[in-house]
Amino acid sequence: MAYKSKGFKEPVNPVGNVAELFAGVGGFRIGLARAGWKTVFSNQWEPATKVQHASGVYVARFGEDGHTNEDIAKIKSLPRNIDLLVGGFPCQDYSVAKTLNSSKGLKGKKGVLWWEILRLVHQQKPKFIFLENVDRLLKSPSNQRGRDFAVMLKTLGDEGYTIEWRVVNAAEYGFPQRRIRVFIVATKKKSGVKKSKPELIIGKTGILARALPIEKPTGTINEIDLKDEVDEISLRFNKGASKSPFLSSGYFADGIAYSIKTEAKLSTNKVVLGDVLEPDSKVPDSYWVEENRLKEWKYLKGAKSIERTHKGSGTVYNYAEGKMAFPDLLTNPSRTILTGEGGTTPSRFKHIIKTKNGYRRLTPIELERLNGFPDNWTQADSSGKSITDAKRAFFMGNALVIGLIEKVGKVLALELK
Ligand SMILES: C[S@@+](CC[C@H](N)C(=O)[O-])C[C@H]1O[C@@H](n2cnc3c(N)ncnc32)[C@H](O)[C@@H]1O
Repeated sequence: MAYKSKGFKEPVNPVGNVAELFAGVGGFRIGLARAGWKTVFSNQWEPATKVQHASGVYVARFGEDGHTNEDIAKIKSLPRNIDLLVGGFPCQDYSVAKTLNSSKGLKGKKGVLWWEILRLVHQQKPKFIFLENVDRLLKSPSNQRGRDFAVMLKTLGDEGYTIEWRVVNAAEYGFPQRRIRVFIVATKKKSGVKKSKPELIIGKTGILARALPIEKPTGTINEIDLKDEVDEISLRFNKGASKSPFLSSGYFADGIAYSIKTEAKLSTNKVVLGDVLEPDSKVPDSYWVEENRLKEWKYLKGAKSIERTHKGSGTVYNYAEGKMAFPDLLTNPSRTILTGEGGTTPSRFKHIIKTKNGYRRLTPIELERLNGFPDNWTQADSSGKSITDAKRAFFMGNALVIGLIEKVGKVLALELK
């Protein structure tokens, strides 16, 4: 199938206003614009670097209006006219550090971004919140499986929201990347609305069920009581258990979370890695793997068992890893793009493909296409300075599959009416 890159256009008659947190290079904004939403506020700040590359690309593409490049902790408040708050934020430890004190409010661990999101929600109470994260969020931390997500549900619920979540593999909905992420959609409760059964919301009538259809669930539903105070939940949730009760789909309302394992209704439209490739003639020399380095790539991608020594205790142990596809198959969707995808150094996790002209890595445009960004979206910053290929790959490793955001955005737009 010939790949056609979609551009970006602000909607003419927007359905509603969006605030985009942790904006990166604007994945949410592009997807939501395709569903009719207008982003009127955005924030992006990279703590690890002095030069703010992602913010620079964001401004180059959308302009400066409503954009802030500062730590989220410094945002005083969101504009009043926000209907939808979105963001893909880093997965961290959400434990509650101090006991809840009603006069001072909730105290989470310092520097943990969840509490900053919650602070802004508390002030502005948008009608909808749409968040994206790695699916590990449902299981972390390892000594109290699911605690962080329980804290999230509880605290957002206390702000007056019902919450749906779903683990989504983009490839199952017809996109060319097997990117697995959890989508979380919170809706501000309206009074006088008849309550539906959680099973029905998860399977059929919920925002996520309508945007990203699933097969009828067959397993049993877990009921997770989160009526305790949040500091209690933080301290005791699921202690000693080996598994998280939060499965691939769920719904939370009135202090109870309902969760069940679900399967996607597979899209009939299959787009694969081979579909997004540029012609070899356009691929710069540095992307081709030289014959004398192939051995190294093959070794890194292969199955192996390595003897390692534990730094602290000095214990010697065997570290084993399985075989990765080498080269990556053009007839399948790609693996997840990671932030380290760029650069010529051989790596187990970078993609290597084979075309009739040899082995090569993926170009920045191909990585953008795997996420559904317009071609060359991340080429330059707002001063016109070129962004390095490694940085461009880093942005795509951080970003998301835009087509999925568009699908959820369309259902949210119907809900707003
Ligand atoms: C997972 S990425 C989101 C990428 C985005 N959805 C996109 O489409 O490009 C998280 C972003 O949050 C930013 N970030 C991290 N800490 C931050 C903070 N304290 N304040 C604001 N932004 C922050 C990172 O620089 C990164 O761009």
